[in-house]
Amino acid sequence: MKEKKTLIREIEKLKEEHNAIILAHVYQEPDIQDITDFIGDSLGLSKKAVDTNADTIVFCGVLFMAETAYILNPEKTVLIPDRIAGCSLADMATVKQVREKKREHPNAAVVSYVNSTAEIKAESDICCTSANAVKIVNSLEEEEILFLPDKNLGSYVAEQTDKKIILWNGYCYVHENIKPETVKDLKVKHPAAEVIAHPECNPEIRALSDMIGSTSKMATYVSVSKSKEFIVATDDNFVYHVQKNNPSKLFYPVGTTCTDMRKITLKCLYNALKHQQYKITIPEDICLKAKKALDAMMKIS
Ligand code: 13P
Ligand code: SF4
Repeated sequence: MKEKKTLIREIEKLKEEHNAIILAHVYQEPDIQDITDFIGDSLGLSKKAVDTNADTIVFCGVLFMAETAYILNPEKTVLIPDRIAGCSLADMATVKQVREKKREHPNAAVVSYVNSTAEIKAESDICCTSANAVKIVNSLEEEEILFLPDKNLGSYVAEQTDKKIILWNGYCYVHENIKPETVKDLKVKHPAAEVIAHPECNPEIRALSDMIGSTSKMATYVSVSKSKEFIVATDDNFVYHVQKNNPSKLFYPVGTTCTDMRKITLKCLYNALKHQQYKITIPEDICLKAKKALDAMMKIS
């Protein structure tokens, strides 16, 4: 196995050879966070994928994120370093189930969280991320919204809007499994700390939180807040990111991790660039329909 320093040097060299850009989600391992060209949340990464002049996008994240980059740039090469880095939330809605629900609610607009498959995006009127979900829902003419596939983000949106939100029974295990006792114990140990939570957390955790927001909103919040300590209710690797940018502040992770995000390593990133693997491809008809839903979101974001 190549030494870490050698791997990093070779990744940099290969990146130049292929005019490639490395994009990484904030839940990636520290080694990946340190080498990436751009780190962000789902919305920030989608925007960067549209803006870049690179010929190749290497996406250090999970499949739906790399698919989103491809849908927005089908002329580019989009690589995911580990092809089985998926998202169990995205897999919680099938086209058949969604079509049935659409028949039950013919007047509802279909809003899909980007944490969904390309096929589900293709069934949707518009996409959203956790950063813009409320804005997207409020921008629609329809009063009834079928919100896919995360029930927790959906119920969070329902709390912020007058629209009728029809929830889907999907969830992210990384956030759903955070126990209220864990947050309460951390609050006892660190009484001065503010609790920040991702909207994929369930309502019990959200009720214990001082601030709820997407990963980018949480990152901005901790930088501008007067508080010096934070209990962080999202993937623990987020703490590495905010700690780096706020060295004088203290962060207490709740102990939850996305196993798929951790599948991307320096070694597989190196292999991705060296062997141009694994290329994202999506059938053209699905890609075009999904792009409409993503473009509609990008216009409003
Ligand atoms: P963000 O939209 O905050 O990046 O979250 C994506 C995600 O997968 C959270 O679990
Ligand atoms: Fe999917 Fe949850 Fe992992 Fe995000 S944290 S990629 S929603 S399983």
